[in-house]
Amino acid sequence: MSQDETRPNQHAWSDVDKAPDTQAFAAYLDTIRTLDTIGEYKRRSIELMRLQPGHRALDLGCGTGDDTAKVGAAVGPTGSALGVDFSGAMVDESRRRWEGSGLPISFAVGDVHKLDLPSAHFDAVRADRVFQHLAAPMHALAELVRITRPGGRVVLSDPDWGTYILDAPPTPAVLKYHDLAQRQAKNPWIGRQFFGMFRELGLVELDLTAHVAFFLDLDVLEKLGNLDAGFITAVQTGQLTEAEVAEVKATLRERQDARRFLASVTIYTVAGTIPG
Ligand SMILES: C[S@@+](CC[C@H](N)C(=O)[O-])C[C@H]1O[C@@H](n2cnc3c(N)ncnc32)[C@H](O)[C@@H]1O
Repeated sequence: MSQDETRPNQHAWSDVDKAPDTQAFAAYLDTIRTLDTIGEYKRRSIELMRLQPGHRALDLGCGTGDDTAKVGAAVGPTGSALGVDFSGAMVDESRRRWEGSGLPISFAVGDVHKLDLPSAHFDAVRADRVFQHLAAPMHALAELVRITRPGGRVVLSDPDWGTYILDAPPTPAVLKYHDLAQRQAKNPWIGRQFFGMFRELGLVELDLTAHVAFFLDLDVLEKLGNLDAGFITAVQTGQLTEAEVAEVKATLRERQDARRFLASVTIYTVAGTIPG
């Protein structure tokens, strides 16, 4: 399926550097980080790493490096936090924001499917809203397991887009839109799959947490940009007509004007320990 790669729709995250405006992706991450539920699940995902002063930690798919900085603060001056991202633009942005911060953090370009990092090296690794975008998530998790020491922690967080809902009358256009929205991203059901993936790779002491992220302001969703990008793609690929898009948009705007707009998606966080 061809996609509109110019805006941060969920498919463009697989290769951010191909986008003409990579700053839009950094701005997207900055906006989404301000939402309460996002802050809550991020805190939980870092807590589940069980970081101690002196630990070596990895933030895989670090984006703008804001979480890497939190991880760096938790491991303290005797520890280290590495942020790795497939996108050179994201790594540049992380360095611009955080180099000189005094935190024990560094950044590198890398692909989780084949990391140039030694085995059993880290005490804890995390990947936050990355696995939904990967070509081979099971292979990627095996890589994270390989580079984590026995007794170390692996923590993954991602939405399950099959849980994405909007409050709107179930007209044919709205139902079609719902169906498309629930299939956004390369791996839209990754959230529910984490538990089985951890079990299959033999991780122990599993923790499962789910946070429902509510979006109560259509203007914020529009600012994020992926709503429009999704509509453009849907029209380009013949999945929605212009008239259907106009109908869905008008319905959402009515809800917003009546101050009753609601959309939500469940974000799963799964953590486990490397046995041995
Ligand atoms: C939605 S962003 C999340 C960024 C950050 N973890 C956060 O929560 O703010 C997904 C990030 O994963 C990165 N990414 C995508 N595919 C990757 C891969 N194969 N290896 C490493 N990073 C990848 C993207 O470049 C992007 O920065």
